[in-house]
Amino acid sequence: MANDWFETVAEAQRRAKARLPKSVYGALIAGSEKGLSTNDNLTSFDQLGFAPHVAGNSNTREMSTTIMGQSLSMPVIISPTGVQAVHPQGEVAIARAAANRGIPMGLSSFASKSVEDVAAVNDSTLFQMYWCGDRATLEQRMERARAAGAKGLNVTLDWSFSNGRDWGSPWIPEKIDLKAIIKLAPEVLQKPAWLLSFAKTGRIPDLSAPNMAKPGEKAPTFFGAYYEWMQTPLPTWEDIAWLREQWGGPFMVKGVSRVDDAKRVVDLGATALSVSNHGGNNLDGTPAPIRALPAVADAVGSQIEVVLDGGIRRGSDVVKALALGARAVMIGRAYLWGLAANGQAGVENVLDVLRGGIDSAMLGMGKSNISELTRDDIVIPPDFLRALGTK
Ligand SMILES: Cc1cc2nc3c(=O)[nH]c(=O)nc-3n(C[C@H](O)[C@H](O)[C@H](O)COP(=O)(O)O)c2cc1C
Repeated sequence: MANDWFETVAEAQRRAKARLPKSVYGALIAGSEKGLSTNDNLTSFDQLGFAPHVAGNSNTREMSTTIMGQSLSMPVIISPTGVQAVHPQGEVAIARAAANRGIPMGLSSFASKSVEDVAAVNDSTLFQMYWCGDRATLEQRMERARAAGAKGLNVTLDWSFSNGRDWGSPWIPEKIDLKAIIKLAPEVLQKPAWLLSFAKTGRIPDLSAPNMAKPGEKAPTFFGAYYEWMQTPLPTWEDIAWLREQWGGPFMVKGVSRVDDAKRVVDLGATALSVSNHGGNNLDGTPAPIRALPAVADAVGSQIEVVLDGGIRRGSDVVKALALGARAVMIGRAYLWGLAANGQAGVENVLDVLRGGIDSAMLGMGKSNISELTRDDIVIPPDFLRALGTK
C-alpha cells in the first residue's frame, strides 16, 4: 500500500490535485480576477527571512496560547471555508483532526456539515457568519450555533462579490441532478479514488448549506444561500455592533486590512480580529495580510487579539506572522489539501507538518517560547510593509 503520509503541504496539494475532480480542485484554488492577491499572499512570505543563532539555543520550546478564551496547543486555528464535495466527512473530519491536535475549529455557515455535527466532535468550535439575511434570521442562526455548543462567533466582512477569474472558474452545479451527473461524468470518472470515497457512504455530495436552513425548512443549496447573501443590504458598523451584542461572547471580525477599520473593530468591543484578504478570494489587489499586519498590530494589538490568515503553508510562515505581531494564525487551503489527500488523517498530517515547522524555526531562532518572537527576528525587505488606512 502506498504511504499516505506526506512531508509538506505542497505535497498534500499535489495529491489533492491528483485525487479531486477538476471542478472541486478549482473551487479550492479559488482566487479572483487576475490572482494578484492570492499570489501575493504566498510570495510575500518568501520575501521575509530569518536571522538564526547557532549555539546557546533552547532545548525546550513552548508554542501554546489562547484565542477567544480557547486553548491552542499551537498558534494555529482552522479558518472557516465554505466548500463542498472535498471529502464525504467534510468539516466533521476537519473538526476531529483539530480536536486531536488541540486547536479550535472555525466552521463556515456555508459549510457542508451542520454546526451540531461539528461542535459534537470539537468543543472549541467557532461559528462563522456573513451579514446575510435580516436580523431575525441572523439571530436565529447565531442561537442555533450557540445551542450546538459553538464557543465563539466570527463575522467575516471582506467580500465584494467579484466574479471572473482569468484562469477560468470551475462549473459548479446548483445541485447534483441527472443533468449535472452527465455533465460532470467525464472529469469525475477520471478520479476513481474520490468517487469511491463517496460511493462507500452511499451518498453523493448534495451541495447544500445546512447551517443556512430556516427553521423547519430544508437546507438551501450553496447557491441558494449565496443568493440570499447577495440580496442582503450591506451591514453598517452599527449592525456589526448589534451582532456582537446579541452574541455576547467571544467575537471575531475577519477580513480587516486597514488600521482605521481595526480601530472600529476595537470600538465595537470585539475580542479578536483577523488581518485577512479572504485568501485572495475577495477584492483582487488587496495586499497580502502579512504586509498589513504590523501596522494593525502596532495600532490595536494591546486592545484586541490580532490573528492573521492568508498564505500560511509551513510552520516558518506561522513564526514569521507571530514575529510581525499576530497572536496566532488561521489556515484555509493548507488543511483543505490535507483533507482531500487523506481525510481526517491528512488534516492531522498538515497540522503536524506545521507544528514541526514552528518548532524547527523556533529552535533555529533560539526561542523557548512563541512570546519571545519579535520583529527584529525577521529580515524585512525595504518597501515590504503596507500601512493601510493610517491617514
Ligand atoms: C475554498 C475556500 C472557501 C472559503 N470560504 C470561506 C467562508 O465560507 N467563510 C470565510 O470567512 N472565509 C472563507 N474562506 C477564506 C478562509 O477562511 C481564509 O481566510 C483563507 O483561506 C486563508 O488563506 P489560505 O487559504 O491561504 O490559508 C474560504 C477560502 C477558500 C480557499
